[in-house]
Amino acid sequence: MKIFLDSANLHSIKKYNDMGLIDGITTNPTLLSKEKEDPAALMREIVRIVKGPVSLEVVGTKTEEMVEEAHRLMKYGQNVVVKIPMMPDGLRAIRQLTQEGIPTNMTLVFSANQAILAAKAGAAYVSPFIGRLDDGGQDGTDLIKEIVQIFRNYHFNTEVLVASVRHPLHIIEAGKIGADIVTLPPDILARMIIHPLTDKGLAAFLEDWEKLKKENPNVGI
Ligand code: E4P
Repeated sequence: MKIFLDSANLHSIKKYNDMGLIDGITTNPTLLSKEKEDPAALMREIVRIVKGPVSLEVVGTKTEEMVEEAHRLMKYGQNVVVKIPMMPDGLRAIRQLTQEGIPTNMTLVFSANQAILAAKAGAAYVSPFIGRLDDGGQDGTDLIKEIVQIFRNYHFNTEVLVASVRHPLHIIEAGKIGADIVTLPPDILARMIIHPLTDKGLAAFLEDWEKLKKENPNVGI
């Protein structure tokens, strides 16, 4: 399972990239708007720091605008993946960009039908938003199951990138289903690391080591 960070925050990106945990990055206009930095400069910097694929989203809504923006974004680096919203013009843009050899990620996917069409158009990645479905009272993980099964049945090359992750259980579910990638907000990745029993266990080990050292002052490792 690949882990992407769903963030445009340089501090978090550097932190988890240095830990070797990040296989790629996803951004979107909302995440960029939170950073209060020039978005173009920020996107260039993220693409420079991270070796894996970095999804950068277009903001145009017509095929021609999306393709033009995609060409500009591709100049930021070789690892750029162009993120395109699910809509007829977006599918056309994906088709065109795929023919040009430009990798794309179809975003804002909320049904298996949309995922099938994204794959047929040639998207390298499809991003179902599970948290937003959960928010609306629908089980987001059911959608992942459907997409993974359909893509397997037909040997689609498109990778399933689980997006809109809200809690660590989403990651376990995505892994059990066999989704290719999960993209995580930094706070969820932080929560994957910690466990109260780990903290309790470490405190006990250190305490016992101190006792041992008191009894035998010359010991060491
Ligand atoms: C995916 O690429 C999106 O950036 C993201 O996962 C959206 O998640 P949200 O529902 O938390 O905004």
